[in-house]
Amino acid sequence: MGSHDENEQCGARSAAGLGDGFEQILARRLSRRDMLKGAAVTASAALTGAVGLGAGTAAAQKASALRFTAVTPTDPKFDDVVVPEGYYARTLIRWGEPLTATAPTHNLWEQTPAAQAEQFGYNCDFVGFLPFPYGSGASNRGLLFVNHEYTNPELMFPSFDAKNPSQNQVDVQIAAHGASVVEIVRAPEGTWSYVQGSQYNRRLTGETTMHISGPVAGHEWLKTSEDPTGTTVHGTLNNCSGGKTPWGTVLTAEENWHQYFGNAGKLDKSDPRAVNHKRYGVPAEATLTLWEKYHKRFDVAQEPNEAFRFGWVVEVDPYDPTFVPVKRTALGRFRHEAATITIAKNGKVVAYSGDDERFEYVYKFVTKGTYNAKDRKANIGLLDEGTLYVAKFNDDGTGGWLPVVFGQGPLTAENGFSSQADVLINTRKAADLLGATKMDRPEDVETNPVNQKVYIALTNNNRRGAEGQPGVDKVNPRANNTSGHIIELTETNNDHTATTFKWEILLLCGLPTDESTYFGGYDKSKVSPIACPDNVCFDNAGNLWIATDGAPSAIKYNDGLFVVPVAGAERGHVQQFYSSVAGSEVCGPELTPDNRTVFVAVQHPGESGTVEKPFSTWPDRAGLPRPSVITIQAFDSRVIGS
Ligand code: FEO
Ligand code: CA
Ligand code: CA
Ligand code: CA
Repeated sequence: MGSHDENEQCGARSAAGLGDGFEQILARRLSRRDMLKGAAVTASAALTGAVGLGAGTAAAQKASALRFTAVTPTDPKFDDVVVPEGYYARTLIRWGEPLTATAPTHNLWEQTPAAQAEQFGYNCDFVGFLPFPYGSGASNRGLLFVNHEYTNPELMFPSFDAKNPSQNQVDVQIAAHGASVVEIVRAPEGTWSYVQGSQYNRRLTGETTMHISGPVAGHEWLKTSEDPTGTTVHGTLNNCSGGKTPWGTVLTAEENWHQYFGNAGKLDKSDPRAVNHKRYGVPAEATLTLWEKYHKRFDVAQEPNEAFRFGWVVEVDPYDPTFVPVKRTALGRFRHEAATITIAKNGKVVAYSGDDERFEYVYKFVTKGTYNAKDRKANIGLLDEGTLYVAKFNDDGTGGWLPVVFGQGPLTAENGFSSQADVLINTRKAADLLGATKMDRPEDVETNPVNQKVYIALTNNNRRGAEGQPGVDKVNPRANNTSGHIIELTETNNDHTATTFKWEILLLCGLPTDESTYFGGYDKSKVSPIACPDNVCFDNAGNLWIATDGAPSAIKYNDGLFVVPVAGAERGHVQQFYSSVAGSEVCGPELTPDNRTVFVAVQHPGESGTVEKPFSTWPDRAGLPRPSVITIQAFDSRVIGS
């Protein structure tokens, strides 16, 4: 990988058996359109094109509510988006596009942190659509909340020297992390654009002032030379996925934050903080990012506590541009993939969250207080008080939620805990002591609003069953699980505050021809290959939508977006709806309330390439690739997938 030319691309096409099919024609057409960058595309032109290409011929041939014809998976070198017949994709917003009225347009050669902090960030991950105004349920206007998980400096800066980044390059990267809030509108003819200069547009970066709340706020380990109170922190980092609350805020999750803090090995071995840093994977020596070269807060040897201020779930109110983001420590500290919210029957708020590393755990948090549907502001703060639980899956298909609570079971002074704050800073150690079940990299954990079951994406674990590592169990049944699986969890009485549950496997991902795969019992000859499930969402019919991250190495296809019914005769019928560009993983996904638009984040397109040697040129077809959020809609505006 790394080099990419037209011949390779053509070879990729025939290797994938695609020839000059509709997908390619459409993909090429859309690429040209994307190059027009915001030029109006009329509905009639789009529809004419669609009819000419035979859109809709497959419609109504199946009894299911899902009637699209699955796309053909593409070769990992294939560098374009592919959507089903009758649909089109457009680039909504790309890395570097100006958010504020005064932001400069992106200039590769003159990047500054100040400019980047007013432009759309890098590597978009979570996408949350918040109807605007609040409470309207609108599907034609909203605030889009987008995480910017990490940066690929080799694709951001010409001649980037990873061993010797300049301070400007480091500071631009810090400014390209975090999240964006951006107002978007759908024109009457149906396509979306973002509103530059909207008063709601906002960047959160690795420098934005944030508060720390909940039991750990002010803890001794959270105090630094810059913040002796342990309550105020610069920024949020490695925000992977997230969730929306019913009161209109967003939870953005700090995932692989550990990698930004270096030299933890220089702490005294007897220092309990060193043990904690090691359990969380904070590098003993220099980081790969080398930010510590210019900012001492990233050097554990100089500032041993800064890393404890990361690893949290951060709540943001996109409807209030002045809102100071809050790190909610009651939800525990780990590599949070996301935090997704559901309201239990008794009104308590429940947040599900996975710790995305091999052999880590699945958690849920239940608030002490209850949701107030009449006063949205009254709910901001609910996540500061409640009970954290970690999941234990029994081999007989039952399971339990073990309280991660100071003073209960082994979480006592004998094991080094003197408060709930201690337990939360050391959430992983607490879960180890409780005997929770070590999972195959928990990603999104999310409740299906139609059947109330909870779906757990386990993306992969190539060390399961290896020497010296945990072996298989019933809930993680495959050694060297390169393609991942999805668990369906049913809380007792469908009560999200329950402490017991039942579980079953919905999917064992991979190639349908692989005998270890399982698709909910559905006929494997009729499903799409899928690997490395990551982010999920649900449509209004309760179908599970799955974005993947890692399919190119697992099954030699590009990552994609898939849908699978979870009930009835179609349960397990996985169909691919979207195929992504070379080098990218697929994030979001997010549907508008009317389900007529799906937002997809195309993260790290062209990864493995450089500015000088691009592996992808999507979406601009000029120079380097740009992480972007795209919209996918039907030419006739039908509900996505119907
Ligand atoms: Fe950033 Fe767990 O994927
Ligand atoms: Ca993810
Ligand atoms: Ca999700
Ligand atoms: Ca992932």
